[in-house]
Order: sequence, then C-alpha cells, then structure tokens
Amino acid sequence: MSGGRRRPGCCRIILAPLLACAAFCLLLGGLPLRPRATDKDVFLSDACTDEDGKRILRRLCWDFAEGSAAGDLCPDLCVRGLMVYQRCLYYERGKKVMAVRWRGRPVVLKSQLENLSSYRPLGWLEYQDAGAEDASPLAILHAATLEVRRWLGLAGEGEDDVEEGAHGSPASLPARKIYSRAELTSMWSLLQQEEYAFLRVLQDLSAHVPKVLGSCGHFYAVESLSAGHAWDRNIFSLENGEQRATDVHRLALSFLDMVRHFDDDFAHKVHLCDVKPENFAIRKDLTVVAIDVDMAFFQPKMEEILGHQCAGDDDCRFFDCTSSCDLAARHCRRQRANTNLQVICQKIFRPWFSPTLLGAKAGLPLQVELQRAVRECAAPGQAAVDRDVRLRLLRVLTRLLQEGK
Ligand SMILES: Nc1ncnc2c1ncn2[C@@H]1O[C@H](COP(=O)(O)OP(=O)(O)O)[C@@H](O)[C@H]1O
Ligand SMILES: [Mg+2]
Repeated sequence: MSGGRRRPGCCRIILAPLLACAAFCLLLGGLPLRPRATDKDVFLSDACTDEDGKRILRRLCWDFAEGSAAGDLCPDLCVRGLMVYQRCLYYERGKKVMAVRWRGRPVVLKSQLENLSSYRPLGWLEYQDAGAEDASPLAILHAATLEVRRWLGLAGEGEDDVEEGAHGSPASLPARKIYSRAELTSMWSLLQQEEYAFLRVLQDLSAHVPKVLGSCGHFYAVESLSAGHAWDRNIFSLENGEQRATDVHRLALSFLDMVRHFDDDFAHKVHLCDVKPENFAIRKDLTVVAIDVDMAFFQPKMEEILGHQCAGDDDCRFFDCTSSCDLAARHCRRQRANTNLQVICQKIFRPWFSPTLLGAKAGLPLQVELQRAVRECAAPGQAAVDRDVRLRLLRVLTRLLQEGK
C-alpha cells in the first residue's frame, strides 16, 4: 500500500488478536461509510429526551430477553439492575449516546443506530437456517478479521488471510464450539459501526482513544470522560485562573502528543477528519482522548476516500481532510494536503491562544512566541514543516508550564 510508513510490527502484529477478540462473525459485503450530518450540535431542538433514551434501552433489554441480543453487559443492564440510565447525550441525527452508571461508575453507551434490527442482518445466519453445513468458529473469525482489516484499509494486496502463529493467532483464543445467534447478531451489529471497529483496533495501543468496557447487543460501553463542549467552555473561566492556565498548557501538550502518536506510532498514519472540541474529551490526568472517531482513517483508507474525480480543489475536501485537484487527470490527489496538526492549530489552539482570550497576558514574551507558533502552525503549508512547528510549540508550552504562566 502506498503512503503508509511501516514501523516494525505495531498494527500488523497486534491487530490480529485484537480484532479476533471482537470479530467472530462472518462479514458478508463491505462495511458502509455512514453519511454524516454536519454541525448538528447547533440544532439544540434535535437533542434527545430521557423518554427516548429509556425507550431505546427498554427495547434492547427486550431483545436480550427474547434471545436476539447478547453481550457481557446485558445481565447487568437488563436483569441485575447494576447499569442504570442517567441521561442521553446525543442529537437526533447523530449516534445514540447515553450516560449510565455501571456498578457505581459513570460510563457511556453508544450505538450508531437505535435498534438492533436496523443493522444489516448477518447473511450467514440465514444460510444456517437453510440447513447448510456449519461454519467453524475459526473460519468465522478469520473471515471477520480479514474483512475488518480490509474495511479499515489495513489488509495488504493479495492478503487473503490474517497472519497466524508467532503474532498471536486466532487459534490462541479460548476455544468455543458454538456461538449463539444472539452473540453473532450482536457482534455483527457492532462491527458495522466504524467507531467500534476502530476503537477495538487501537484499544491497547493508544491512550488517546476511550477504553471499550463491554457491550450489550448493538450498544458498546466506553469510559466516561469530560467531553469537549464542557471543558472548552470553561477552560478560560476566571476562577482559579493560574491553575486553568497551567491546565490549558498541559492539554495543548497532550494534543501535540496525540498528533505525534497518530502520525508516527502505527504502521499507517491516522487522519482525523472531524476536528472540533466536542469530539475530544479529557481524562482526569488531562490526557486528550478522541471520542468521536468515525471520521478517523488510516492512511490507505484516507487515500481511497480522497482519490475521486474533481473539477477543482473545492471538490477535494473531505471535512477537515483536504487534498488538491490534479486538473489534467481530473482526480483529487490521494495524498492529503493538510495535516492533523494544522487543523488542530486552526480549530483548537488558535481560539485558545488568541490575544482576546489571553487578555493582559497576551503581551508576555513567551505568550507572543506561542501565538506566533500557533499562527504559523495553522497556516496552510507543506507537511514538511509540520515537525518543526510541532517541536517549537512543544518547547514554548513546556517553558510556559515550567514558569507557571
Ligand atoms: N466517552 C464519552 N464520555 C463523555 N461524553 C461522551 C463520550 N462519548 C460521547 N460523548 C458525548 O456524546 C456526544 C456525541 O457523541 P459522538 O461520538 O461525538 O457522536 P456523533 O458521532 O453523533 O457526533 C459527544 O459530543 C459528547 O458530548
Ligand atoms: Mg461528535
């Protein structure tokens, strides 16, 4: 695959067992990219009500009771009363997202679609009904792993099987003879959700994505974090000003670490194409976490998305990820023209470190240097200067932290 820097091992080695854990159902056909609403958060009338949220969970538990949904969290949610609904966090046109308390701990339940039955059915189950020969769990697992790798743009040319053996083969998974229809249906619905597949792949490889805690039917649970709209609004509040300023610098450093991590730490770059504060959250230790990753793509997938026909550069913009139009070929260039760092500087750092928000502090030499670095970082330019500008930002932010400004 072109464009992907190969680092020994990382994704390729750890991907198979990770995916294997998640992917034990047979995937038939490709996983669709979901059409996505933009700026939905502006339409507050779109917000869900508790009635909606509770109805969705009642329906899920009904599916569990009648044997069409399964998952490690179902008993706690539907039988033991150990997972309790708190409030819904979504907008009509987005994912269904709910805050719940699970054994005393806040967690978030997510699903792209409201009902399990709205996901594409698993054709293989129909096939089973027709009395066809049983497929072995391992065959299912291999097929599913390969399909998810393909979907994420990670399967190599001509690859028709996952690598086995030394890197942890599916065979090393606990042997199970039979998966119930409910288990297969639920896992299949989860795998149709780009975000779930992406999170599973990066689960133990990245501090910058939320932890997946379990699932019930088509809903998966992730750790609850302080979501962007909350911290972004309060970040410069006057209360406890010094501490806030330090926190902002720490957060900015975590954003920089995330950018470097997504650029360098995997076999392929990860491109973030929907950068806005509400799509990021922070942990208590101030690590920045990408919470809405269905617009995050590995390099090969990014090239596939960008490489379509065009009449001008405007046609080569995919949300925050842009390329340029090759007018002779009438095709967008497959290599992205801007970078994650540039977009984060434009959409997150520039508002944070604007002279208006900084007030009296804006004139301090280090602050002036920071504003200049952010301006340069946000300006459209060559990806080649990305590293230099990142290092400059890193230096200034570290000094600001050390000097407590
Ligand atoms: N792990 C999480 N912790 C806290 N809030 C979350 C979490 N995940 C999502 N949310 C909240 O739910 C909202 C919608 O989730 P998101 O994944 O961004 O859905 P969409 O794809 O519809 O934008 C987020 O903007 C955030 O407020
Ligand atoms: Mg979002």
